[in-house]
Amino acid sequence: MSADQSKTEPAKDGAETLSNLLKEDRTFPPPAEMAANANVTPELVARADADPEAFWAEQAKRLTWGTEPTQILDWSNPPFAKWFADGRLNAAHNALDRHVEAGHGDRIAFHFEGDRGDSRDITYAELTDEVCKAANALTELGVKAGDRVGIYMPMIPETIIAMLACARIGAPHMVVFAGFSADALASRITDCGVEVVITADGQFRRGEPTALKPAVDAACEQCPGVRSVLVVQRTGEKTEMVEGRDVWWHDVVDRQSSEHTPEMFDAEHPLYIMYTSGSTGKPKGILHTTGGYLVGTAFTHWASFDLKPETDVFWCAADVGWVTGHSYLVYAPLVNGATSVLYEGTPNSPHQGRWWEIVDKYKVSILYCAPTAIRTFMKWGHEIPAKYDLSSLRLLGSVGEPINPEAYIWFRTHIGRENCPIVDTWWQTETGMHLIAPMPGVAEAKPGSAQHAVPGVAVAVVDEEGREVANGEGGYLVVKKPWPAMLRTLWGDDQRYVDTYWSRFDGLYFAGDGAKLDEDGDIWLLGRVDDVMNVSGHRMSTTEIESALVSHDTVAEAAVVGASDPTTGQAIVAFVILRESATGREEDVVEELRRHVATEISPIAKPRQIMVVDELPKTRSGKIMRRLLRDIAENREVGDVSTLTDSTVMDQIAKGLKRG
Ligand code: WT7
Repeated sequence: MSADQSKTEPAKDGAETLSNLLKEDRTFPPPAEMAANANVTPELVARADADPEAFWAEQAKRLTWGTEPTQILDWSNPPFAKWFADGRLNAAHNALDRHVEAGHGDRIAFHFEGDRGDSRDITYAELTDEVCKAANALTELGVKAGDRVGIYMPMIPETIIAMLACARIGAPHMVVFAGFSADALASRITDCGVEVVITADGQFRRGEPTALKPAVDAACEQCPGVRSVLVVQRTGEKTEMVEGRDVWWHDVVDRQSSEHTPEMFDAEHPLYIMYTSGSTGKPKGILHTTGGYLVGTAFTHWASFDLKPETDVFWCAADVGWVTGHSYLVYAPLVNGATSVLYEGTPNSPHQGRWWEIVDKYKVSILYCAPTAIRTFMKWGHEIPAKYDLSSLRLLGSVGEPINPEAYIWFRTHIGRENCPIVDTWWQTETGMHLIAPMPGVAEAKPGSAQHAVPGVAVAVVDEEGREVANGEGGYLVVKKPWPAMLRTLWGDDQRYVDTYWSRFDGLYFAGDGAKLDEDGDIWLLGRVDDVMNVSGHRMSTTEIESALVSHDTVAEAAVVGASDPTTGQAIVAFVILRESATGREEDVVEELRRHVATEISPIAKPRQIMVVDELPKTRSGKIMRRLLRDIAENREVGDVSTLTDSTVMDQIAKGLKRG
C-alpha cells in the first residue's frame, strides 16, 4: 500500500496451500467409556441432518424463555436471518437466575485464578447477585436497552459480571481485547457510538501491575461522546480519575441492591458487537443477537465437549476479548450451568508449568486452547507437564488455526495421556459457534482435520463457480444453510455484510477459508484465501498493518504478508520503501516502525521482520503481488512473475536483501 492508495491483488493461493497438505493417515477411535456415555450419538446426528430446523427448535428448549418461540428460522429476507423471532428471553437470566431457581445456587460458576496466585471461587448465586448490582449501577449511570457499552478489561470476574449486567438490561456490549491500543479502542468506540466504558485501573502480568486506564483516557480524547467511565480497582496503583466522567466500580456497584428483575427481550435483540479484522483496513463490527446465539453456543458447548455440567470442570483458556471468550468462556458454559476456570495470567509465570498446576489444582476435565499454545508447550518440553497430575483431563479442544499433526500428537500424548479425544473446532467471530468439529464419542479422529460439520449445520467445499468439489479435491469453504448463532449483519453496514459474506457465491456463506475434502469426505482447513493473516490464532489484516506503516512519516510504501512460522502459525513480514529522509538510519527506523505498529494497533500486530526494499512487485494495474513477497519471506524460489510491470523487480529485491 502506498501512502495514498490501497490496491491489493486478491490472494488466490488455495492451490499452493493444497499441495503443502501433510499426509496424515493415523486415526483414533474415541475411548470406549466416552463412546458409551457420549452426549452426541449417531441417532442425534441423523436426526439433525434429516431436519435441521426441527433439530434447532428442539435445541431451543435448552433455554428458559419468557415467551416460547413458535417460529424457527425466518429467511424471507436473505441474507438477513431471524431465529426464534417471536420468542422473548433474557440472556443473563438464562446464564444465572434460572440455575439458582433450580437449586444450583451453590454450584461454582468460576474458579478464578489470579496472575499472582490469588484465587476466588464464585458460585452461581454469588455471580447472580453481583450481576444484579452491576445492572442496577448501569441503570443509575443512565444506560438503557439498546445503548452500546464498551468494555476494556483484564481476565477478572468483574469483566464477566460487566458483560452479563449489560446483557441483563439489554445494552449490547462491545468488548475490546485489553492488548489493543488506545487508537484501536477509540475507532471501535466511535464506530458503534459507545457512551459508557467499563475498564480497570490495570491488570497483573507476570506478577507486576500494568496500567489499562491510561489507554481509555487516551481513547476518550478522540471520543467526546463517552460520558461515563466505570473503573474496577484491580491493581490499586495510582490512577487519574476525570472529574464528572470517571467513577469507581466499588463506589457505584457495591452499594446497589442485589435485587433486579430481568426484562425479557426479543430473541433478535442485539447481545453484543465484536470487532474483527477484515481484508480491508477498517475492522468489522460483527453483530450477534440473543436467542439463536445462546441456542447455538449452548448446544455446541454441550456437544463438542461432551459436557456433563454436574461433574466437569471446563477451562477455556482464551481471552474474554475474543469471540472464543464470549461464546465458550462466558455465555455457553453459564447457560449450560457448568463450572469453569478463569485465569488472569500467562502460561509461563511464575514458571512454565503454570497451566498444568491449574489443571491439577482444579481437576480440570476439559481444556480448550489454541495450537499456538500447544506448540509453545512443545518447545518448553514434555518434562514440564509430566510433573503434574493431569489425570482429571478427559477431553481436549483446539481452536483458532489448523492444528498440525505434530502438535496434535504431542497434545494427545503428553497432555491427554493417549486417553482424551482432541476436538478441533473450526469457527469464526462471525459464526458465533463451532461449525465444524469431530463429535467426541462418535468421530474416528484424524490428526489435523476438523472433519465434519456439527449436527444441524451444513457446510461444503466449492470451486470457483460455487460447485461442490468431489472427495480428494480442494476449494473454498462455504456454509449452505443459516445457523442459529450466525452474525446478523455488520454494525451500521448491511451492504458490507452482503458484499463480504454473501456475494462471492449465490446463496452460500463465504467463510474466506480454503479447505480440502479427503477421500473419506473429511474436511481439512487450509487457511485464509483473502488478505487476512492468522498469527497465534489472532486474525490480522495485511491492509490494516500496511496503513499503520504508511502513517509513519518515514514510509513511502508498504506491503505486508503472512509467512509461515513454526510457533505462531503465520508471522507478519513487512516490506517497506522508505522516504529519502530515512536514508542512512534504516536500522533505527525499522525498530521505530515495529514500535509504531504496536501503538497504532497492538503489540500482537508487530511485524516479526521488516525488510527495507527499493521497489515492490506490482501488476500493470498497480496491485501489489503479495504472493511473490511471501515466496521471499518464506525463503522459497520466487514464483511466476509474468504479470509484473517490471519483471526484474524481484531480482532487485532479492539482491538488495542479500546486500542488507
Ligand atoms: C479464522 C477465524 C473462532 C475462534 C478464534 C478465531 C481460522 C479458526 C480454526 C480451526 C483451522 C481455524 C480460520 C477462520 N480458524 N479455527 N479449528 N482450524 N482454522 O476467530 O478471529 O474470527 O478467525 O480462524 O481461518 O476463518 P477469528
